[in-house]
Amino acid sequence: MLNRFSAVAVAALAWHCLAFAQTATPSHHQTFQNQPLQNQTLQNQTLQNQTLQNIYGRTHQNLDGRWHYIVDPYETGYYDYRRKPYDESEKGTGGYYDDRQPKDKGDIVEYSFDGSPTLAIPGDWNSQDAKLEFYEGTVWMRQKFTAAPKEGKRYFLYFGAVNYEAHVYLNGRKLGSHKGGFTPFQFEVTGKLAAGSNTVVVKADNKRHQDEIPTVSTDWWNYGGITRDVLLAEVPDTYIADYKVQLAKGDARRIEGYVQLDGSRKEQEITVAIPEANLSARVRTDANGRAALRIPVGKLRYWSPEDPKLYGVTIAAGSDRVADRIGFRTIETRGKDILLNGRSTFWRGVSIHDENPLIPGRLRGAGDMRMLLQWAKDMNCNYVRLAHYPHSEEMIRLADEMGLMVWAEVPVYWTISWQNPDTLRNARQQLTELVVRDKNRASVVVWSIGNETPVSEPRNAFMFTLADTVRALDDTRLVGAALEVHRNGKEVTVEDPLAEKLDLASFNEYAGWYWASNKDMLDFHFNIPYDKPVMITEFGADALGGFHGDADTRWSEEYQDQLYKNQFRMLEAIPGLRGITPWVLVDFRSPRRPHPYFQDFWNRKGLISQTGKRKQAFHTLKAYYDKKQQQYQQYQ
Ligand code: GCU
Repeated sequence: MLNRFSAVAVAALAWHCLAFAQTATPSHHQTFQNQPLQNQTLQNQTLQNQTLQNIYGRTHQNLDGRWHYIVDPYETGYYDYRRKPYDESEKGTGGYYDDRQPKDKGDIVEYSFDGSPTLAIPGDWNSQDAKLEFYEGTVWMRQKFTAAPKEGKRYFLYFGAVNYEAHVYLNGRKLGSHKGGFTPFQFEVTGKLAAGSNTVVVKADNKRHQDEIPTVSTDWWNYGGITRDVLLAEVPDTYIADYKVQLAKGDARRIEGYVQLDGSRKEQEITVAIPEANLSARVRTDANGRAALRIPVGKLRYWSPEDPKLYGVTIAAGSDRVADRIGFRTIETRGKDILLNGRSTFWRGVSIHDENPLIPGRLRGAGDMRMLLQWAKDMNCNYVRLAHYPHSEEMIRLADEMGLMVWAEVPVYWTISWQNPDTLRNARQQLTELVVRDKNRASVVVWSIGNETPVSEPRNAFMFTLADTVRALDDTRLVGAALEVHRNGKEVTVEDPLAEKLDLASFNEYAGWYWASNKDMLDFHFNIPYDKPVMITEFGADALGGFHGDADTRWSEEYQDQLYKNQFRMLEAIPGLRGITPWVLVDFRSPRRPHPYFQDFWNRKGLISQTGKRKQAFHTLKAYYDKKQQQYQQYQ
């Protein structure tokens, strides 16, 4: 069914994408309640709240495919007419998750999955059904699958991501719920699987609420649904639940990490092997199933964008064995420099949303993702800001492979309910789920705790807590946030107490677009009072692809192109400038952009248009990056 979305897209698609489907929670109860901040390390994560590390490296059944769906704006399938949830009733039945068929001609059943249309999962519903383009509410989705559960095995139902609030049922029984549209969660289903046919039903609700993360106002499309893979993982009774195998903070000669087992035989010998580096370590787990790793390493080929070397790493414990591909690199700052493997670097970046512009909708698989990352590489990028929420694990693993450093971010975006403890818990939960999932990815060099959050006491307290939370979870990476600038006359500066907590002086500035213009932006100058590397997390201008005019004509490619040239002149004057991620790689959908001609619900700040055409500024930025690469060659 083609809607206004896809007509344009299909034409361009054939050429652009090689989609190969590959095809992942903690139920959402909080781990941080009543726990003092300092011991919120990964170690204190209670296992049942954590997803299996490296789900794709486990034995698993892929439940992706066509799922029947029922649109339920009044949540009739969840609440009785007294607004009481059916799954909290005494019998626990009555909702659409029963997947009930009429017993006989006299029986009333007012819904039918079998009779309902299907959605491609993973995939948002907005881009697959024209009636749902702007839909925000509840949709029920059902998949049937066959299982043959074995003795001595444990089973986890894993979701890569469901936007926003998910309630999950297996064979009519509630497994649990999860909030947060961009991070994985799982439920243990050992003993709940039938030998033969099983039914999984998901209630997904993407309605926006002030107290949630993100909050009600964002500048991206609120795609709803099961947007990433659904997997049924099988592991032995005692299995490798989690591990971290990375170089120690600032020490290229030592791997530091841990292995965490779960199951009945927690204390046992495990081996960690990196054959290509002639490394193998034997350690014993303690009564909690945990073993710390401290492995001296000789000379390794360190991961970098120029040489994205990944090593095969295997971890074996009893009857369980997990293989992963891991890169090893150190990342740190020294004054205004950012040192990758001890060498000063310049981050030639671009910002990217998790959206395929050619078939508007969330990225559907590695093919879509590789397309976007290759566009960034075609611009000679060595770095990408994946905005404003965690992108998929596949995207990060592709960045590992393709040699792109990653700024990873949680959707603490604009004005959040700073004083609501549930909102803080939610933000910390999403941050933890992100770090837990991607802590072994060499490409991830920055954890970002938010974007354009307005300075105030309650906000500062909230953000300080997030900064401390992420440092407690992982001290081997940089911590950033996209701060805002202030203008005093012609001086542009950053005055934000949060900057003290961060490793980078990182901020968004829209000189020439939201303030000033191509005519007078060069009258302004930046004054950044921090002895930290300066990272411009956003600048840019809207240009409708193919619309031309002079450099003062808004929306034209020439205006955008001139603005980029002006920006380079302004930014080059900043002594500590060590990287930029212009806004944005490609036009993206936004409900905040209704101008019928220039926008049509697209943010047009892309360097590439919605049809995949490169705008003039794409080439201007590439030329700037070629020069920057030359300039920093001396440090390599
Ligand atoms: C903001 C924001 C982006 C937004 C951009 C814009 O700075 O961080 O999410 O899309 O500006 O206005 O285009």
